[in-house]
Amino acid sequence: MDKKELNELKNKIDINNLPKHVAIIMDGNGRWAEERFLPRNAGHQEGTKRVVDIVEVAADLGIKYLSLYAFSTENWKRPKEEINGLMKLLVYYIRSELNKIHKNNIKVQTMGDISKLPKIPKQEVEKAIERTKNNNKMVLNIGLNYGGRDEIIRGIKNILYDVKMGKINEEDIDTKIFSNYLYTKGMPDPDLLIRPSGELRLSNFMLYQIAYTEFWFSDIYWPDFREEHFYKAIIDYQKRDRRFGGI
Ligand code: IPE
Ligand code: IPE
Ligand code: MG
Repeated sequence: MDKKELNELKNKIDINNLPKHVAIIMDGNGRWAEERFLPRNAGHQEGTKRVVDIVEVAADLGIKYLSLYAFSTENWKRPKEEINGLMKLLVYYIRSELNKIHKNNIKVQTMGDISKLPKIPKQEVEKAIERTKNNNKMVLNIGLNYGGRDEIIRGIKNILYDVKMGKINEEDIDTKIFSNYLYTKGMPDPDLLIRPSGELRLSNFMLYQIAYTEFWFSDIYWPDFREEHFYKAIIDYQKRDRRFGGI
């Protein structure tokens, strides 16, 4: 798609009806690489470049929250070599992008138990969170060692603890209060979920938050995901009739 076509597409977006929160399951890196007879980590490397692009595109457009699924609680099942490669890419991404992210007034947050990450990736992530904590153009919320079921169980444990300590009453627990016990505390639920790579499933992503999210699936692999696909997803989203159970 050339620049003119891309601009025409972008102009179709209704700026007054943007999804506030876009979530992306960045999938298909491995297959992208395998199709090229490259090691899977080459796909992750290419996928990291798309993260750089899409973060900028989303912030420029005026998206307020961008959640990216980078590493799931189940991804530890993968070969050690692949996991090490992913952790190295995480460190590389933060080291090379943090200045730009900060300059663009983007706030880095994570969801998932980052205490289980290896030391250096964990330190870099913490640095990024600390450095950008007062930024307010867009929240970049990265799922790292994240699983929706884990998040719900953790929330239940923490809420039980607060009940026991007398901080809240059991009778007062409702969806609003419970959402404060999730990693996404303070964030609106995703309006739009994008999953490339052809898989039609959630893979344990934001199970609680996604109750009324609009889904957008595509067959392309994440390393092939471009600005145009992001715009197309938003244009499709803007055609949806969101009823939230009403009429
Ligand atoms: C997504 O790509 C990246 C991570 C899960 C970290 P995959 O590695 O799952 O790629 P496919 O699904 O095997 O093609
Ligand atoms: C989901 O993709 C996790 C991330 C994108 C980080 P997976 O590739 O791990 O999911 P499955 O195994 O295809 O369901
Ligand atoms: Mg996958």
